[in-house]
Formats: sequence, structure tokens, C-alpha cells
Amino acid sequence: MIVLSGIQPTGRFHWGNYFGAIRQYVELQNQADAAYYFIANLHALTTVEDAELLRRYTLDAATDLLALGINPDRATLFVQSDVPEVTQLCWLLMTRTPMGLLERCHAYKDKKAKGLPADAGLFTYPVLMAADILAYDADTVPVGEDQVQHIEVCRDLAGSFNHLYGEVFVLPKAKIMEHAAKVPGTDGEKMSKSYNNTIGVFDEPASVRKAVMRIKTDSRPVSEPKDPESDPLYQLYSLFVDEKRREEMAALYRRGGFGYGEVKKALADAAVEYFAEAYEYRKELEKTPRKVREILEDGAAMARKRAGEVLHRAQAACGIRY
Ligand code: TRP
Repeated sequence: MIVLSGIQPTGRFHWGNYFGAIRQYVELQNQADAAYYFIANLHALTTVEDAELLRRYTLDAATDLLALGINPDRATLFVQSDVPEVTQLCWLLMTRTPMGLLERCHAYKDKKAKGLPADAGLFTYPVLMAADILAYDADTVPVGEDQVQHIEVCRDLAGSFNHLYGEVFVLPKAKIMEHAAKVPGTDGEKMSKSYNNTIGVFDEPASVRKAVMRIKTDSRPVSEPKDPESDPLYQLYSLFVDEKRREEMAALYRRGGFGYGEVKKALADAAVEYFAEAYEYRKELEKTPRKVREILEDGAAMARKRAGEVLHRAQAACGIRY
């Protein structure tokens, strides 16, 4: 099993990013024969215009991932743009990509439907993503539901390239991540930066508590029994605690006679405790940015080795090596 995934550096990671993706990355690095995780700064370039901000987000993302348990001895961690072979491969794929395939992809389609101007970067975004995956012979790609279409595009492109030129690429499979769709934000909608309803993984404990206290709840009376599963507060709480504490809380909901304030306090405590170790580790890493850069450099060197072989294979197959 060769696992690969990319995460965009578009801001600090929130609970949705952690439970939706990062936690699975950490688990998978221990099960895979090889795991490649990268910070998709070239993809982020389609939305982040501020150069200084993009630099900062990129290093922050690397530091956060390390603090949260990505282990450089188990996984190759690198920055997408440090592997130029990927953009070379992207061009080869692009020459075999039907326009119609990309016109159907939702990021571009949605923007166009809203009458917003789209650029070629956004339009060809799925091809770069395909190159990301194919460059490492990855077979397992953990992604959220929203990225499944892009994995299908990748399989399509790899399949037709293989059909034309022989077996060059490994066809990957999406591994849909469990919680990706289910982490509610402070307004009860899916937690997402674009809804402005996030709580940051590395927010100060005091601001985590504040944010939790602000989570929207309904106005049913304290005495009324409630269904835990349909309540965002409970859904969040259950991410942070073990089976036993989850059951205890569920029983309280069903019994009634408690307030959302109590649940919020329990949730804030559980969340702060859950991330406490990572929080401390991040503080350590912040003191040694050199070390983070070294890890990224080593990661890029490893990644380039693999991507270089695959690129060579693809170039030879389509007549670019003469
Ligand atoms: N497009 C992905 C996202 O926004 C990030 C990404 C880029 C990616 N390249 C990838 C994910 C390759 C998986 C594999 O979430």
C-alpha cells in the first residue's frame, strides 16, 4: 500500500481538518509500505494571492502536521513545489486531457455558475492533482468526499495514458475519510474556513473555551430529554472522548435535566486535553524552524527520487526522451 495525500496551506488547521484528514494520515503512516504527505502550495496558489501569507501558511502547515503526529521516519513529508517533476508530469497529462472532463469538475463549474471569473489554474487543478498522485505510484489516496471526483479524473487520465502508451501509471483508489463530512462548526454547519465557523487545533486554550461557549444551541428547556446523535455539541464531544465517556454523555442527553452549558464545559475540557501534547510539541518545534525546514528538505529529496523515476517512465513512453 502506497498512501499519498495533499493538504492545502490556506490557513491554520481547525478541528475539521484534524478529524477529517490529519488524524487518518497519522494512522495510515503506520499501516502503509510508504506514505507521502505534502503541502499543496501550488494548489493554494489558485486562492492565496498574498506571497508572504502563502510562505507563512506553508511552514505553519508543516509545523502543525509534525506536531500532530506525522512522523518523518514513517512518512515522507514535503512541499509540493519542491518536486518540479510533478509539474513536468502535469504537462504530459494535460496534452491528453479532454476539455469536457475538466468542464464537469465542480470547483470550476461552481465558480462559473456563479458568474465568477475562473483562471486556467483553477480549470486545470484536477490535472495537477492527478500528477501529484501518479508521480509516486500511489495506490491509496485518503481524501474527503469532495475530492472523490478528482480521483476519478486521475484514474481516467492514467487509464487513457496507459491505453495509449502501455502500462505507465498505477491506478489509484480514493479512501474516503470517515469524519470528513461530520465535524460541525460553531454554527452547526460543516466546519469550514469559508463558513467562518472554525475552532483552531492550536488556538490558545482560553480562546478554545470562548469559541466553544459561543457554539449555537437550540432553546429547548433543560428538563427535556434530547437525542444526542442529532446535536452538534454532542457530535463534537464524541470526537474527543472514549467510548465510556461518550456513553455517559449520551445517557445524560436521553435523560434530560442538564444544560448545554455543562456539555460545553465538558467539550472544552476534553478538546484542550486532547490537543495538549501536540500543543506543547508545537511550541518546541516553533523554537527550531531550522529542524522543520530540514525535514521538508529530506522529504523533498526522497519524493523527487520516486517522482523522477515515474516521470522518466512517462517521458520515455510518450516519445519525449529521444
Ligand atoms: N485538492 C486537495 C484538497 O483541496 C489537495 C490535494 C492536492 C490533494 N493534490 C492532492 C489531495 C493529491 C490528494 C491527492 O483537499
